[in-house]
This record gives sequence, C-alpha cells and structure tokens, in this order.
Amino acid sequence: MCWIFAYKWTGIACDFLIDWLKNLEYRWYDSAWVSLISDDWEIYVEKAIWKVSNLASKIENDKKDLSKYHVWIAHTRWATHWWVTLENTHPHHSQNGRFFLVHNWIIENYIDLKKELTQVWYKFYWNTDSEIVANLIEYTFEKDLETTMKKVKELITWAYALVVIDKQNPNQIIAIKLWSPLVIWISADNLFLSSDANALSNITQKYIPIDDNEMVIIDKNNYKIINNQKEIEKDSFESIKNTTQNDMWDFKHFMLKEIFEVPNIIENILWGRINFQNYEIKSNSLDKLDLPNIKKIEIIASGTSYNAWMIWTYLFEDLADIPSQIHISTEFKYKKQFINDKTLYIFISQSGETADSLECLKMVKNRWWKTFWIVNVVWSSIARLCDNWLYTHCWVEIWVASTKAFIGQLLTLIIIALYIWNKNNLDYTKYKKIIDWLAKLKDDINMVLLNSHKVEEIAIKYANFKNMFFLGRNMFYPLAMEWSLKCKEITYNHTESYSAWELKHWPLSLIQEDFPTILLNPESKLYEKNISTLKEVQARNGKVIWILSQNDEHKLEYFDTIEVPKSNEYNSLFTIWVVLQLFAYYMANNLWREIDKPRNLAKSVTVE
Ligand code: F6R
Repeated sequence: MCWIFAYKWTGIACDFLIDWLKNLEYRWYDSAWVSLISDDWEIYVEKAIWKVSNLASKIENDKKDLSKYHVWIAHTRWATHWWVTLENTHPHHSQNGRFFLVHNWIIENYIDLKKELTQVWYKFYWNTDSEIVANLIEYTFEKDLETTMKKVKELITWAYALVVIDKQNPNQIIAIKLWSPLVIWISADNLFLSSDANALSNITQKYIPIDDNEMVIIDKNNYKIINNQKEIEKDSFESIKNTTQNDMWDFKHFMLKEIFEVPNIIENILWGRINFQNYEIKSNSLDKLDLPNIKKIEIIASGTSYNAWMIWTYLFEDLADIPSQIHISTEFKYKKQFINDKTLYIFISQSGETADSLECLKMVKNRWWKTFWIVNVVWSSIARLCDNWLYTHCWVEIWVASTKAFIGQLLTLIIIALYIWNKNNLDYTKYKKIIDWLAKLKDDINMVLLNSHKVEEIAIKYANFKNMFFLGRNMFYPLAMEWSLKCKEITYNHTESYSAWELKHWPLSLIQEDFPTILLNPESKLYEKNISTLKEVQARNGKVIWILSQNDEHKLEYFDTIEVPKSNEYNSLFTIWVVLQLFAYYMANNLWREIDKPRNLAKSVTVE
C-alpha cells in the first residue's frame, strides 16, 4: 500500500517535486522514490527508505540536471508485502526496462500471474505483486500503452491505483484504478495525478475524482478519461484553499498544533449549524432523514472513529431515545446481517478512504439500505458514495493518529442526536440546557489549553511507567478507551482501558505501585461510584491520577489531579479529551518518540 503521485510538467523547478512528496509523507513513510523520464528516453530513478528527506539528499548528491526530465512518478510507501528495504521500494520495472510503475494496494491474483509469466521465461528480481504487473504489461504489450493497459486491466484482480510510464513514449502517463483513491489535479500549466489532495493545496484547487474502472491518459498537456472503452467527460470541482495546513507554525509537532486548533474547529462546527438564539439546528442533510421510519441505528467504524461512536451510542440513546448498535467495520462485513428497512446505517471516517469501512458501505448500498456518512475529507471515496452525509469541518489532519477529527466527529454526532431529539419532541428544557452548555464549549477548551503545563508536569512524571490503566464509567468508558489507544499508539507503553465497574472482576489483580491508574471522574451521575473505585485502587497501593471537575471537594485526598472546567457531562467529554491528547503527547515527547509518525502506522488504511 502506498501513496502515489505523478505529474506531467511544463517547466516547474524540480525542487517543488520533493516538496510535494514531503506533503504526502504524513500518509506513509516507510520509503519513497522518484522516477523521471526525459524526451530522449532517459529514465532517472532514485530510491530511499524511510524519510523523503533521505530521498532529497540522494537526489542532491546525484547532481543531475533535472530540468530535462518532464514526466514524473513517485510514491511514499507503507509496507504490506515484505520488509522496508530498497529492493522493495518502488518503482518496479519490466524485465526489458521499458515500463515503470507505481502501485497502491495489492493485486490479489499475483501468484497465478507470476506462474504464467515464469512459464514464458520471465525472471523476477523481487517478490512483489507490483513487479509482476510491470512484466505483465511488457508481456501483453500490443500497439501502444493505452491499448495494453485496457487488456491488463482485465487480467488483474483487486485492487489498485496504478500509474505507468513507457520509456519509449516520454510524453504519456497512464493510470487505472479500482478501489484505491485517485484524483486528477489541474493547474494552469500542469496536470497531476495524486492519491491525496493535500500534496497540491498550494498549487491548485481544481480536481476531478476518478471512479473505479476508469482509465486516465495524460498526454502532453491534455488528459482524457476512458470508461467502458469510451472517452467520457467529467465535471471538475474546486477544493477549499488552505495553505496553512502543511505549516507547523511554532509548534514542535503537528499533533500539538492540531490540539491547539480545536477551539476554532468547535466554532466552525457549531456556529454553522446551531442557532444559539432560537435553539434551532439547521442542516439540509439531517432534514433529508426519514425520521419517522428510523427505528434503529447501526454504526460502522474503525479505530479512533469507532471510539467516537462508542461514546455516541451512550449519549444518543440518552438524547434521541432510539436504540443503536456499533460495529467494527470488518467484523460487520463478515457477520450475518439482518436486513431491516427501518434501520439507518451510519458510517464515520476521518479520511473517507478506510478500506474496511468503504467495503461495508458498498455492501450496505448494494442491498439498498439507507446510508449516512460523517466524514472529514470532502473529496474522499466515501463522501462520493454515500446517500447523505455531514462533514466534520476539521481541515486536513496531518499527523498520523487522529486528533481534532475525533472532536469533529463527536460534536457532529451530538448535533445529530440533538436534532433527532428536538424533532421527536422530547424534553425541550433539557435540550435547551445542553445547547447553552455547548455555547460555552470553546471557552472551556481554551481554559484547558491554558493550563496545559499542569498536564505536562503529570505526564512527564508518569512517562516511564511501562503499564497503566485507564478507567471510566458510562460514556467516559469509551473516552478512557480512546485515551489508552492514543497513549499506546505514540508512546509504545502498555496501557489498558476498562469500564471502572469491571475493576473488581479481574484488573485489580494487576494493581501495584508501579501500575498507575487514570480515573475519569468529572461531575456526573456516577461520581460517587467512581470514588469507590478510587478507594479500591488506593487500598492496594495503586497510584491514581484523578481527572475531576474544578473545585471538587475531594481533591486534596488524591495523589495527582488534573482539573477540567465544571460543566455538564457532554462538555466534560470534550475537555477531558483535550487533557488526554495533551497527556499522551507530553508522555511521548518526554520519551523522545517520533510523535507525528508513529512506527508501523499509516494515516489512511486503504487495505483490508
Ligand atoms: C488512531 C487513528 C486510527 C483511525 C482509523 C480509522 O489515532 O487515527 O485508529 O481512527 O484508522 O480511520 P478513519 O477515521 O480515517 O476511517
């Protein structure tokens, strides 16, 4: 699985190439390569493992005159097959050195294809599926690359975005796609193909998303799109220009920058949708929901998005009074489903490209069930497939693990719950009160950010503990799950989350002095129950970090405390979330982890 990029230029300085590739690096960072082709059929290939900056140094050391190369393909890779080595790094080329390609995702029938090609004396320099496709192009070549790729498309199965160049036709780039994202970007002088919008946000906003089974042919300064053997016209779109997203400002890491963006994101989400004077919620997407016929909601997501949903099931059932059930995406796909036209299927995804969720969406759509999506990336595959959606308006998330998107998801979910609540004429006084609290949310979060030094102090104190428990009750339990996920993801320390009720069923056996517990206990209906949990841990010499509301009278009794503004439970979810992100960040920073690019992970998981 990789992130690909190709472009046909008309005279842009070569230095930009590396900058664009760096903009893609937040997606994958196991290795990077570049391949350039000139008019006199000369191919220049350079590869590096790990960072794009390693590739940049190699290119600089090569001291090549890059201005004569004008077709360019490149990628950043996240390893799915074989190790992170130069041999595994693309580009892969055919045996005769004529065809070079970059490939996302996995060709599932590559073993059969390899057998066939071996029988006709093809030899392979490595073991990847991508190299087999390069040789398949060479073996089946007929007339020109366009004709050949039409044939190759029929021979390979599942799934790909493939960009191919032919050394003997240095003006052309051909791409085909099935499942893996691919977009054409159009500027005044240049044409680009990319898996991601972010690479080019400084250059152009005009784009055409490519759909499954389409082929793109870029030739000189023109492009054509072929579908079903015929050339087709497609509309272009304009993305929103945001030139600050790739800039870290004065922050040490994107993670920290994105946590500090949260107050503005809250404003973005709330003020466009809730009228705080008359308590109305405005949303065309929600107006389209056939509410009287929705008796159940099934929710499908992965990772952090799954945790956002888990919280929502508690508050949604509480607010909207409709039963809901949550599934991990792939588990949903392979489990028996009971078709019910009174059920609404809601998907949630930051990237809008997560293969596990995307496959479930296609499955649900095939059966004509109702689908709704909450997504951050406007041009993503998921956003284009769903019947109805809400955007989370969080701007691009650069660092790998999800930060501000979680806030966007949760807040959007609360808006949906409140909308349904109001339409169903439930307790209006309670509804108004929650909206009044939400109006204060931005200030509450700013308050937590102002006190981030206190969180840092405690995070540093606990950074070297190898094990930790995170406990919460009710909707604070999935918040504890998210906290634990984030800590593991970026510190590599072992943490576990449990519902605080569970403690006595077994986790207590692990409690001892070097196994601290973080307990989430802001003001809530279960406050007293949490006090009992605290006592149980203390009685076994366990260290406790207590997350509580300001002016809590029990405060002095405890080892370490972090306060959040006194508020209702819904606002506390958000303020505690900010504490948890800061806590994980400062722990990881203290341990010198590479925070924005945790090991072995990828920003967007486009393989199943
Ligand atoms: C964790 C994280 C992942 C994603 C998951 C789903 O910090 O970022 O667990 O939440 O891969 O991704 P999306 O939301 O893009 O579908």
